[in-house]
Parts: sequence; structure tokens; C-alpha cells
Amino acid sequence: MTAETVPPLEVRELTVRFAGLTALDAVSFTVRPGTVHAVIGPNGAGKSTCFNVLSGVYRASSGSVRFGEHELTALRPHDIAGLGVARIFQNLALPPRATVADSLLLAASA
Ligand SMILES: Nc1ncnc2c1ncn2[C@@H]1O[C@H](COP(=O)(O)OP(=O)(O)OP(=O)(O)O)[C@@H](O)[C@H]1O
Ligand SMILES: [Mg+2]
Repeated sequence: MTAETVPPLEVRELTVRFAGLTALDAVSFTVRPGTVHAVIGPNGAGKSTCFNVLSGVYRASSGSVRFGEHELTALRPHDIAGLGVARIFQNLALPPRATVADSLLLAASA
């Protein structure tokens, strides 16, 4: 996939519930190719839950994540990674001597 053909990542009305707790409540955003975004929020706001859905680790209760022709909420983690949508984990799960660049390459090759 060349830079010109990378589609936007379109998150629409993404909702995740754990029993009675709504961790994500109809979250929508679009990540266009070549842009950098940050997700900020207090502990428990749902940041990791969001990335866990984007990478297929958690299932959405409702909503969609479109990447071009693909609906990512229906795919398994390795299929999502194969499309080039990669994630890395928080500091506790990172290789201790990896640089930021190393960690990103590690995610992309998973
Ligand atoms: N697997 C799970 N089962 C039940 N509840 C969960 C699960 N994962 C997350 N939660 C809950 O969902 C809410 C959002 O958690 P999440 O880990 O996404 O927050 P966060 O923004 O990443 O927080 P932090 O800044 O501490 O990393 C919290 O109330 C958390 O307890
Ligand atoms: Mg987190």
C-alpha cells in the first residue's frame, strides 16, 4: 500500500460495554493519512479500550471502524495488523532498550 492509496481510518459511534459499565460511548473520529493524533484522558477514560477495539483485541458492542473497504470490528487482530493498522502497548510491555522507532517497527511487523 503506497502513501497515496492509504485510506482514512474512520471510527463511527464506537461503543464498548463491560456489563453495566460503558467504557466507550459512541466515539467517532477520523484519522487521515499523514496526520498525527493523540488521545488524552484521565485513568479509566477508555483510551486503551479504544485501541484494543481498533486492533481487534476487544470487540465493540456497537459502532464501526472502517479502513477503506474493510470493517475492522469484524476482523481478527492479526488480520488487522496485516492491513497495516498496528499498535504497541504501554511502557510496562515494551522491550526495555527499544527506541520509539524500534517499537513502531515491531508493531508494524507483528
Ligand atoms: N476487560 C475489561 N473488563 C471490564 N472492564 C474493563 C475492561 N477493560 C477496561 N475496563 C474498564 O473500562 C474503563 C476504561 O478503561 P481503559 O483501560 O480503557 O482506560 P484508560 O483510559 O486506558 O485508562 P489508563 O489511563 O489508566 O490507561 C475502566 O473503567 C476499566 O476498568
Ligand atoms: Mg490505558
